[in-house]
Amino acid sequence: MPTLRLPGLIDPHVHVRDLGQAHKEDWDTATAAALAGGITTILAMPNTQPPIVDAAALARYQAAAQARARCDYGLYLGAGPDNAAALAALAPRAAGLKLYLDATFGDLKMDQLDRLVAHCAHWPAAAPLVAHAEGHNLAAVILAAHLAGRSVHIAHVSRRDEIELIRAAKMKGFAVTCEVCPHHLFLTLAQSGLPPGYSEVRPRLAAQADVDALWANLDVIDCFATDHAPHTRAEKEGAHPPPGYPGLETALALWLTAVHQGRLTLDDVVARMHLNPRRIFGLPEQPDTWIDVDPDLAWTPRGAALFSRAAWTPFEGRPLRGRVTAVTLRGRPAFDGERVLAAPGAGRNVRSSSLESSPQLETGDL
Ligand code: NCD
Ligand code: ZN
Repeated sequence: MPTLRLPGLIDPHVHVRDLGQAHKEDWDTATAAALAGGITTILAMPNTQPPIVDAAALARYQAAAQARARCDYGLYLGAGPDNAAALAALAPRAAGLKLYLDATFGDLKMDQLDRLVAHCAHWPAAAPLVAHAEGHNLAAVILAAHLAGRSVHIAHVSRRDEIELIRAAKMKGFAVTCEVCPHHLFLTLAQSGLPPGYSEVRPRLAAQADVDALWANLDVIDCFATDHAPHTRAEKEGAHPPPGYPGLETALALWLTAVHQGRLTLDDVVARMHLNPRRIFGLPEQPDTWIDVDPDLAWTPRGAALFSRAAWTPFEGRPLRGRVTAVTLRGRPAFDGERVLAAPGAGRNVRSSSLESSPQLETGDL
């Protein structure tokens, strides 16, 4: 197959770790990894140290991104116990609001139902709301968002009962969208072969029946997100391994390998890594931006060769087919297949203009 030219990919779920955990990753290394993976826009999660839960923190992280990002970006705000009313005014400057209803890395887990309801009520209906919500919490957030008359996007869906609940909600006309990560479609807990610390991720790797159900419900999956969540090897091998996998540099190749195997079409990938995230998150067009891909190039990921500071991958040594050979961002070479050419500072904030002037946000698509 000849070289393919695809639009710049969008990853709506990335953990960057600047400022307080830059030893894991910062804006420079995260966006270098994104470009090497064909991703030209990342939306960065707020479970940073310190977390992004108010105007002052948002401004500090925006400054860090503006100085160091090599690709385009947006920043989420984090829902806390007492910031629902204050965050609404910041919505035009944020990628969206992130609700942590289940335990994971960071301190943003929210337990009380009244807080969930308050965030659904205050956060503007046209601005994206993203939830980490597993099991019963998934039912809770779908209902709370629906009763508030707003949409919700479900992060990293991993289990059969969850994808089936999302299908049922969509069929009832609820404004719910969702994303699934490569590790939940290509790995199971029993068969990952990963040493204990390295298998830690939230949501946890699931059973083959869950993986099969995700593949069987592909039409319900709006986005493929990486949930790029870098931690160092020392941390993963330590006494309290934090959950999370780096993913920016392996995602597209995993999807392209599935295209080779006849499990996906290229259109499936472009819909879930460009068209749908652009629509769901109301992202501006990136003019003169594209990626060139050699769909036949065979390679194996090696942690040591990654741009990510994590320097390891749960897909180490897996034979893959398909690789990014060049990235062009706003008419300029940003990656040449080996080197990242876009400089720190080349990236733009997708919310640099207000939400009002962004493309119309659509909700409730089925
Ligand atoms: C993420 C992290 O490390 O920030 N970890 C993870 O296992 N996915 C947090 C999250 O997305 O839950
Ligand atoms: Zn995450």
